[in-house]
Amino acid sequence: MAPPNLIRGRRILSLGAAVSGAADGPLAGAVIEPGTVGQLEGLPPGAWDLVLIDADAWDAGQLAQAVKSLSALKAPPPVLVAGENLPAGLVRNILRLPASDILEAPYAPGQLAAAVASLIAEAQPAPAPGPGINSRCWGVTGAVGGSGATTIAIEIAHTLAARSGKERAVCLVDLNLADGAAAAYLGCSPTTRLADFGQAADRIDAAMLHAFVTPVSKGLDLMAGVRDAGAFDAVGRDAILRMLEVACECYEWVILDLPRHRRPWTLEALAGCDEVVVISELTVPALLAARAYADEIEDGLGTGLKPRIVLNRLASRMFGPAPSMTEAEKALQRKAEAGVSSDWEAAAASVNLGGPIAQHRPKSKIVKDVQMLVERLSAQPPRRDQPAKAA
Ligand SMILES: Nc1ncnc2c1ncn2[C@@H]1O[C@H](COP(=O)(O)OP(=O)(O)O)[C@@H](O)[C@H]1O
Ligand SMILES: [Mg+2]
Repeated sequence: MAPPNLIRGRRILSLGAAVSGAADGPLAGAVIEPGTVGQLEGLPPGAWDLVLIDADAWDAGQLAQAVKSLSALKAPPPVLVAGENLPAGLVRNILRLPASDILEAPYAPGQLAAAVASLIAEAQPAPAPGPGINSRCWGVTGAVGGSGATTIAIEIAHTLAARSGKERAVCLVDLNLADGAAAAYLGCSPTTRLADFGQAADRIDAAMLHAFVTPVSKGLDLMAGVRDAGAFDAVGRDAILRMLEVACECYEWVILDLPRHRRPWTLEALAGCDEVVVISELTVPALLAARAYADEIEDGLGTGLKPRIVLNRLASRMFGPAPSMTEAEKALQRKAEAGVSSDWEAAAASVNLGGPIAQHRPKSKIVKDVQMLVERLSAQPPRRDQPAKAA
């Protein structure tokens, strides 16, 4: 299936019965208006997002002429021609248009939707060039499951977005492709399957990325897919790395919520980060895992990048013999970068209401601790000016 938010609400001029029927199926959600070939001459600019033509419904010569007249328009809409009868003269005129595609019958409904979506994505105005090389990317990952990686990645992204004050300053990318929780924690529902994105590695650009992200707030977008058990298999290394590259071109800040288990793209994604934050809890197994995990990342990258360990859920009154910060650092054999206080009420309230803790419980210590972490990390010089490439 094509990304539905590319098609929803689009105005499509449909010429011919065979394609008009798509309104209830593959093009559901689009505003489809039936028309005639005669309309193609002098189309008002901007009236249609796409013209869909059933080639078999019209005389080939007349259609070729009508398509030719489209090229004379200042900004012709993208044109998709589908049918069995596609003579060379017609095809030539179609391909002369700035944005066009041809679909030979018989085709599956999904193919029609995919062709429409990709033409619409192509035709979207290119977003203003992003800050490019000034963009900064931080990766957040948990030493053990449930240590709070997603929670802290969200708070970091929100803090940076609020601090920037600009529109679309931050993109939070949930790389837990199969069952990421970031969208649920933020109370938003992504409509797209990342698998659709994955098939288009070579076509991923700023317009396509923007069509896939879910806006969370003025400054924060979320890149996440719907739950999809097969997503890790469906989305290849090239698509992931290209998506991250484009995200870094479009946003001032890119925050990655990374899965713990290594994927074929993990090291390269980490190599593009200027900070990698490993979240641990204050339990002996988590600390030992954090130490091993930080070593694995450091060795795997071989660039000198040292992951920073953040201890989450620090409690002022310990229940049971939890390690102190000093004991934790001994187990880690390194200094922890920062600590984040425990506040179950605030964490639960925010996920239940949907949104960052900073929004629902702005006075929580978690918020202050994450702000301090963000201040510290952002004061560091960006790393990617240095040669940071995966070996
Ligand atoms: N500082 C904290 N204080 C209290 N609860 C927290 C804190 N950080 C995370 N949590 C809670 O711990 C659980 C696991 O967090 P999550 O961010 O999903 O971990 P991970 O992404 O590492 O699996 C969630 O219920 C979350 O609300
Ligand atoms: Mg998580």
